[in-house]
Amino acid sequence: MPLSNRQEFQLFGIFGFPLAHTLSPVMQEAAFRDLHLKAFYLPFEIDRREFRDLMRSSKNLLLDGFNVTVPYKEDILGFLDELSAPAKAIGAVNTVVRKGNKWAGFNTDELGFITSLEKEGKFRSRGKEVLILGAGGSARAVAYGLAGCGVKKIVLANRTIAKAREIAAEYQKLFPRVEFYAASLQGGNITNPGIDLVVNATSVGLRPSDPTLVSPKMFHKKTLFVDLIYNPRQTEFLRLAKKTGHRTLNGLGMLVYQGAEAFRLWTGRKAPIKVMKEALTKQ
Ligand code: ATR
Repeated sequence: MPLSNRQEFQLFGIFGFPLAHTLSPVMQEAAFRDLHLKAFYLPFEIDRREFRDLMRSSKNLLLDGFNVTVPYKEDILGFLDELSAPAKAIGAVNTVVRKGNKWAGFNTDELGFITSLEKEGKFRSRGKEVLILGAGGSARAVAYGLAGCGVKKIVLANRTIAKAREIAAEYQKLFPRVEFYAASLQGGNITNPGIDLVVNATSVGLRPSDPTLVSPKMFHKKTLFVDLIYNPRQTEFLRLAKKTGHRTLNGLGMLVYQGAEAFRLWTGRKAPIKVMKEALTKQ
């Protein structure tokens, strides 16, 4: 079948480095199959120079849309023709949609996080106080989503406090009703008696030897602990939180719901969430 025969099927993919462990192809292809869509989804593991070269001539790509993951979520911004308002504010794009001869960028991490938090974490954000660990692209998406849901207060704690301060100042202008604070993760435990939700949006916890950045026992019993990491399924952060009797949520739900939103943007169809979850679980 000729690859250029766009009537026959659609082609999607993901760009990142490394990509060996990406679960997106399995999840998206299961969704295409379930809805009997003639579509494929391929991983493209390429280095930064290759990525930039490819994006310079991206109009020639035979793709109908694609995901962008670490470390290219910011690099991609310069190659797009349109940007959604959340993607612009967050400063990162994870989903790109072909619109005729143009590429439009979206950030579905934000909605993916909020949907998982509400549906799986049974968390109602309005009026709540939140602590976000980290100040990278993921933390920006989480903070943006929570601010849009009307939380009362967001504390951004980061190893490099300048980055947390930057986000707090930027978002304070966008969301004047939310109180933003920046804190340092260096030198000891962060405590805050009023916190209802703690989100780990750092990469700390990916390796079993990683330390935990906060001590769950310092938070009240109703505080929900969320880790964006899904591999391992239970980080030390979540293990300790569980041990102290707190409710916990890992990053699998966010992965599914950000993928579901990308699927909807590409196909115009509602994503089969159950099928996508099953595909991930099997994997
Ligand atoms: P992502 O796109 O997943 O958010 P990122 O932008 O590289 O990835 O951000 C990684 C986050 O993990 C940052 O907040 C980083 O802190 P710094 O801004 O100080 O670099 C945090 N992080 C990574 N390793 C860390 C460590 N050993 N201790 C504390 N924070 C760490």
